[in-house]
Amino acid sequence: MDRREFVGACSLGGGSLVATLTGNAWGANAAPRAYPRAQLLDELGQPLKASSLKAQTNYVFHYPFEATPVFLLDLGKAAVATPLQTRDKKSYQWPGGVGPKRSLVAFSAICAHKLVYPTKDLSFISFRKGAATNPQTPSKGSDLIHCCADHSQYDPARGAQVLNGPAEQPLCAVLIEHDARSDTLTATGTLGGELFDDFFKKYEMKLSLEVGPNARQTVARQTVVRELDRFCRNPVRC
Ligand code: FES
Repeated sequence: MDRREFVGACSLGGGSLVATLTGNAWGANAAPRAYPRAQLLDELGQPLKASSLKAQTNYVFHYPFEATPVFLLDLGKAAVATPLQTRDKKSYQWPGGVGPKRSLVAFSAICAHKLVYPTKDLSFISFRKGAATNPQTPSKGSDLIHCCADHSQYDPARGAQVLNGPAEQPLCAVLIEHDARSDTLTATGTLGGELFDDFFKKYEMKLSLEVGPNARQTVARQTVVRELDRFCRNPVRC
């Protein structure tokens, strides 16, 4: 698996601020990891315009591997930088949202508990607009990503930190850049607790059927964004 130390371009907020980063520059133990850059495309294969995204709506693309899904969200409000920690106690600073309102965020859609993820047939995990409900614990917060499998809830406005449920770490952040001139988006890497090795191990057979032999191939240059309701035939609500 390609996991280079991140020393590259990464967006830190509104517009397309580009910085050279190292783990030390972040003052953190969990450094960002660079993957091949991939421009986000719409379903027609054209560069996706960030302004075309509907606020508080689930979108899915695949990155950094052909079989690893990512949620793209326009939260409709600014998402600020947040200090977070992986389950093995590595700290990192999630840089917040990008775009003119700093409202655009992306996270791996693989649940940090037991690796539930959205497929074309079924999705137990998605963003829910409005007040959170959780049948197992008192609800906290609103506008959360909820996994119906065991009711882990993540706050996408705070780097997908865990607010409820058994997940032991935030969803892994996917780093995206917004180009203010063209209003386009590019995925550049990840930050936080990656679970890709566990994911490929757990679902090896399933992914070979769903995605084929390229499941573990890194996405390069381009990746298509779809609304979850168009990508998945049965998005479960709970
Ligand atoms: S797999 Fe998501 S909460 Fe258990």
